[in-house]
This record gives sequence, C-alpha cells and structure tokens, in this order.
Amino acid sequence: MYSNKIDGPRRGRSFDSMNIGFEEKLLNNEENHVNLVHIESRKSKRRNSEFEIFVDCDSNHEQLNEIIQLLRKHVNVVDMEPPDNSCIHEEDMEDVPWFPKKISDLDKCANRVLMYGSDLDADHPGFKDNVYRKRRKYFADLAMAYRHGDPIPRIEFTEEEVKTWGVVYRELNKLYPTHACREYLKNLPLLSKYCECREDNIPQLEDVSRFLRERTGFTIRPVAGYLSPRDFLAGLAFRVFHCTQYVRHSSDPLYTPEPDTCHELLGHVPLLAEPSFAQFSQEIGLSSLGASDDSVQKLATCYFFTVEFGLCKQEGKLRAYGAGLLSSISELKHALSGKARIMPFDPKVTSKQECIITTFQDVYFVSDSFEEAKVKMREFAKTIKRPFTVRYNPYTQSVDVLKDTPSINSVVEELRHDLDIVGDALNRLNKQLGI
Ligand SMILES: [Fe+2]
Repeated sequence: MYSNKIDGPRRGRSFDSMNIGFEEKLLNNEENHVNLVHIESRKSKRRNSEFEIFVDCDSNHEQLNEIIQLLRKHVNVVDMEPPDNSCIHEEDMEDVPWFPKKISDLDKCANRVLMYGSDLDADHPGFKDNVYRKRRKYFADLAMAYRHGDPIPRIEFTEEEVKTWGVVYRELNKLYPTHACREYLKNLPLLSKYCECREDNIPQLEDVSRFLRERTGFTIRPVAGYLSPRDFLAGLAFRVFHCTQYVRHSSDPLYTPEPDTCHELLGHVPLLAEPSFAQFSQEIGLSSLGASDDSVQKLATCYFFTVEFGLCKQEGKLRAYGAGLLSSISELKHALSGKARIMPFDPKVTSKQECIITTFQDVYFVSDSFEEAKVKMREFAKTIKRPFTVRYNPYTQSVDVLKDTPSINSVVEELRHDLDIVGDALNRLNKQLGI
C-alpha cells in the first residue's frame, strides 16, 4: 500500500464544507476503497480566490490513478508528492530466497553440511580408520552444537594431528617466500605472534577469531564440513568465515580431498587479516544474499577462482593469494610453474569456468590487486537480478535491505555525516600544513 499525498487548489467555498465535499468525492466512490489518512485545506498562496486542499490517503497505484482522474474534473490543479514509503512491490519480493538478516541468523544455516561432516566417502584416506572417523565425529558434534556468541571450543590436538600439521606447515613455509603474495607474507608472522601458529602447535580457532576481529572485523565460526555455496557466502556478508577444525588424515599429510584446519589456517587466515581482501570477500557475500540459484552459483565460481585459487601480479611476477593454492604444495608449484594456463580475472568469463575439486584447475585467473578484483566484482554484482540491494550495518551486525526511500535516506544521512568527518579532517590538516 502507498501513502499518497495529493494537493489540489480550488475556488470559493468554506474550508469545512470544501473538505467534506472532497471527502465525498473520494469516499463515495466505493470501488476506490480509499483510506483517507488526513485532509486539510488553506487559502492558496498563489491566488486569493483559490483554496489548497491537502489529502493524505492510502491506495495502490491503480486506485490512485482513478482518483486523480476523478479529481481532475473538480479542481484546477492536482499535484502529487511521491509516496513517502515508495518501495519495491511486495510481489517482487515473493520469489526472493530466504537469507540471514542478522549475524545470529547464521545459526539457522551454518549446520546444513553437504558433504563429509562425520561421514566419509569410500575414497577418503580416513574411510577405513575407525579411530579417525570417531575423531571426526567429535569435531562434527562440536561444530553442530555451536551457536553465535559461543566461544569456539578449544581442542587438545593429538600428537598425530600436530605431527601432520607440522609436515604441512614446514613444507609450505619453504614455498611461501617465492610463491605467496606480499599481503600474505606480511600477515603470516602475525599469526605466529598472536595465535601461537608454529610448526609444533596448531592455533586455536578462538584465538584466531579474536585476532581477525581486531584486524578486519572478521570472525571464525566452526563448521562440520562443506556448506552449500549460498550458506557459505552468506557468512561472508557478516564477515564470518566458516572454518573446519579437524586435521586431515595422517596417511598423506600433503593431500586432503576436503578443507581441513591446515587449509583454513595457512590458506585463508593470513589474507582475512588484510583489510582490502576482507572487504572483497564480504562484498561477494553481500551480493549473494537473496540472489537466484543461478546468480549464487556464478558468485561462488568467482569466489572459487579468486579467494581459493586466485593469482596476482606483483613486481612483474605471478604470486598466489588463493587459499586452495597456499595450502597445497603441488598445486602451488604447478600454478606458478609457467606451464599452467593463466587468464585475466573477468567475472563474466570466470563465472562460467568449471571448478575442479579433485585435481589441478584447468586455468587460473590473475588480477593486478584485490582493489582491481573488487571493482570488477562490484560491476558484476550490479548485473545480478535482485529487486533490492543490501548494506551491512556493523553497529547491529545486520544487513539493511535497501528497498524503500526511508532506508535509502538513512544511508544518505550516514554518508553525509561521514563526509562531514572527512571534510573536518581535511580542514584541520590544511590548517596544520598552513594551506
Ligand atoms: Fe577454502
């Protein structure tokens, strides 16, 4: 329903009788079913001989058009103000898939694990190892019981798990100086400093989460296994990263068919501590909220070839920033070997590329910087069909759905305030510099 304000100047007659007459025109027309919210009149400022009548009523578009046609027969001028709550038609919102609006809503979708969890496929290295399977169930149960706001349970890792982690840590660290991007190399030592990330110690997710919150506002949420792309990307919208907490099977420390804590901690965390990368990740997440299945799939594919398998160029050399590469010795070497197929990151092209889980990718996509990738993703996100846009509200840790004028106006007010702060800062700086 709309609240429509109609102004109409009219000649002669006393205010009261004129209002009643106007009301009659609106209300006696039964088929209009108009809800008259407010009506008032005053002498016209334009001409002494005229009166202005202000009418506030509830109606839909069709009714409003009929009323205007009707009024035109009785008044000299009809002006209509745009409705206060002009908004997206409700029917356009009907087909929008459910999505979390606030961070605690992630409790409703973080446990919909698609693969693995505590059940392993027959080709999983730990399939025949009952001790490992029991351990995996322990991790899956912890993740399933987790609720937003809980501290992440601390794990007493077994000697075997620490040994497996140690092999992965040692071998990857040999490659990082020549293969990882500069942002990764800058942040990795911070993980050691603040989260006790060492060859002989697996960091606790709770410590990592606290560390990331201070750097970029990202937090960690434990998860039992693979989530659907929609549920995983939804977490990113709230700067929540779903992390597995178990360690891969010890039979082959350099191979895992699924994400494990080595992949999360060594692959993802150092870059989630980088503001520009954190922003890039969140924007993909925000674009996915309420998008169609097809659009979510495209966004997930772009995520896969950037956040998981992305390359960048630094000082003329290819470097990896994707976590899938930075946690896989063989694929990291392969991607930068000069033999892999490399293409420029272009969401329109990248979103159609096949994602390969079991072997190396057919192609890797390169960006100059996260900033460049972010700008391209932003443009791509605008092509996604969605009858609204969303904006993250860090104060309430919720998403504001921008679909009506009041919600958009409140963003404008905040932007005005931010611009005031920037202007004030510039003025003070100029004064200091004597400009
Ligand atoms: Fe990953």
